[in-house]
Order: sequence, then C-alpha cells, then structure tokens
Amino acid sequence: MRVGFFFEMNTLSRTVWWDDSKVCLIDQRLLPNQEVVVCCTSLKDVFHAIRSMQVRGAPAIGCTAAYGLVLVAYQSQTDDIQQLRNNLTDAKQYLDESRPTAVNLAWATSRMVRVAYEQDVQDTLSLCQVLLHEAHAIVAEDLAMCHAIGDHGASLIPDAGRVLTHCNAGGLATAGYGTALAPIRTAFAQGRHVHVLVDETRPFLQGARLTAWELQRDDIPLTLITDNMAGYFMQQGEIDCVIVGADRIVANGDIANKIGTYSVAVLAKAHDIPFYVAAPSSTIDLTLPNGAAIPIEQRDSDEVTTLSGVQIAPVGIHAAHPAFDVTPHTLISAIITEQGVIFPPYQEQIAHIVQGEST
Ligand code: MRU
Repeated sequence: MRVGFFFEMNTLSRTVWWDDSKVCLIDQRLLPNQEVVVCCTSLKDVFHAIRSMQVRGAPAIGCTAAYGLVLVAYQSQTDDIQQLRNNLTDAKQYLDESRPTAVNLAWATSRMVRVAYEQDVQDTLSLCQVLLHEAHAIVAEDLAMCHAIGDHGASLIPDAGRVLTHCNAGGLATAGYGTALAPIRTAFAQGRHVHVLVDETRPFLQGARLTAWELQRDDIPLTLITDNMAGYFMQQGEIDCVIVGADRIVANGDIANKIGTYSVAVLAKAHDIPFYVAAPSSTIDLTLPNGAAIPIEQRDSDEVTTLSGVQIAPVGIHAAHPAFDVTPHTLISAIITEQGVIFPPYQEQIAHIVQGEST
C-alpha cells in the first residue's frame, strides 16, 4: 500500500480511481485533518481499505471492490481464461465478506464476475481490459445516478429549507456528488437558500468529519449538531425535512442505514417532518422481503470506547457497536432514486426501479 498527499480541489470529484495498476482512494479515516491518498496494490490492501473504513459509504465500497477485482485480474499469473474466472470468483467471495450490510458491494462484484463469464475473449489480457472498462462504467454510472437523484430530489426541499442529514451520504460515500447530499447540492446550485443540519454520527463521526468537510468545501451553509440534539431542533421548528442515504433497500421499502437513522426517523414522524431516503438502484435488494432479514454489521467495541485513539470509557467494559439500523418503510415519506421519486406504497414501484422502468 502506498500513500501520498491529496491535492486540493474546489469540488470533490473523485473518491476512488484506478491509477497505474493501483486502486487509489482518499483515506476517509484521516479527514478532515489530513488529506491523504492511499493506493492499494493487492487484494488484501483493498479488503483492508474497505474493512477499516479508509473507504466507506455503500456506492463507494462497490466501486472500490470493482477495481479490486481488476487488480486481481491483472495480477493473476495465468494464461488460462477459466482459471482467471475462478480467481475472480474467489476474490469476489473474499471481498464480499469485508462489510456485510451495504448491498452495493456484492452488487458490484457480482456484475464484474458476470461480465468475466459472459465475455467471449481470446486471451486473459483482453479479459483484464474488459474488466477495467466495466469498473470504469460502474463508477461513471454511479456519478450519473447521483446527479439524477439530485435533479429528482431538489424539489422536495422547500425554499430556504433546513435539512437534517445523518452520517455521510455525500461525494465521499459515492463515486462523487453523493446521494442524500445530491438534492441539497442541486437545490443550492439552483440558487436556493438551503441550510444543512449535520448529525455528527457517533461513533465514526462521518457527519462531523466528512459531511461537514464536504459542505464547507462547496460553501453550502451548515450547522453541526450532536446526534442527541436532533429532537431539540425538530421541536423548535428548525428542521423542514430529513434526507439520508441507504446501505440496502429491501423489497417492501424498509432500509438499512447508519446506526441512529431509525431514531431520527421516529423523531421526524413524531414531529410530522418528511423523512426522505436517497439511493441509487444498486442499493436495492429484492431478494430480502423486509428489513428484519438485512445483515447488520457488528463492529469492534474499541470504536465506541475510544475517540481518535483516546480512551474515553473505562478500560475493559463491554460496548455494543451495531454499525447500522433498519428504518421501516412506514416511517419513510419518499424514496429518491435516479429514476424518480417514489411515494408509499413502495413494493411494486421498487420492483419497477430494479427492472429499469421509470416511475
Ligand atoms: O459505515 P459507513 O460509513 O460505510 O455507513 C455509510 C452510510 O450509512 C451511508 O449513509 C450509506 O452508505 C449511504 S452512502 C451514499
């Protein structure tokens, strides 16, 4: 693994990219204090980057895993196409284990392996080139989907709207532009006076470290709040709507997202505030009937008992760390996808989105 410094850009334009046979990404664990690029040179590096959350966010880990399989293809020392396909299948299974909740990861690796099997190529080098092309396509499509989510979702934000968001579903969590942040960015670009309330998002602080960093770079007005302040600001009438991303949307419209999302949704319902979920179709998993079936990643308790490496709880205590929770579809006012905005009831419309039919 190699590291280097990240050059200043006015607008975040790349989260993960292929550079000279390496998978490069911005190390999100170090933001906002250090802007460092990490380049993965092995499958193990890619697994570690996803598992340790150097790269995180459902679409971004899908893009990273796609490039990880390209790395495997180029590094496979074989002239046998079938052997190369087997290597890719093994690598897919390995990478899929790195983080279990976001379905975009397995969605991207499945797409890469399918292409490897379906392409009628003469030699392994040609297959490597096809796979690199496919990974680039996954990244380009994700960016396009985020912009479309912005176009569809911007009108849901009232003029001078105050929007609460949880975690980071911005450019860093995707190939760029973001999902939950996309309608906000688009409304802002249209000249509307949006203001974003950013939940800090314990324990990894994606809101405080990443969402605040992104919005500040783009001059979008924000106020950082701790997670336990959301109810206060809703009660004060200072939040007009909530927009969050998703790691998995299942057949009935239930969603998994960063731990704490469910609490925000319950609060929004209690205060009659619209609660919107923004996600591309790659986040939809029709194989699961409802949210109870979604695997919830349980992370290390050290991430709760320490903050930036400093111990903040007594050594040796037990701390729980479910990284995601499930918000039932009954609490969701609308789902914003690249194909349009859907309102309840969701089941049939979600199935149409997967089939690529406009709503
Ligand atoms: O644990 P993380 O930081 O990967 O969790 C990310 C989220 O929960 C995001 O809200 C979700 O992936 C949507 S990203 C566009």
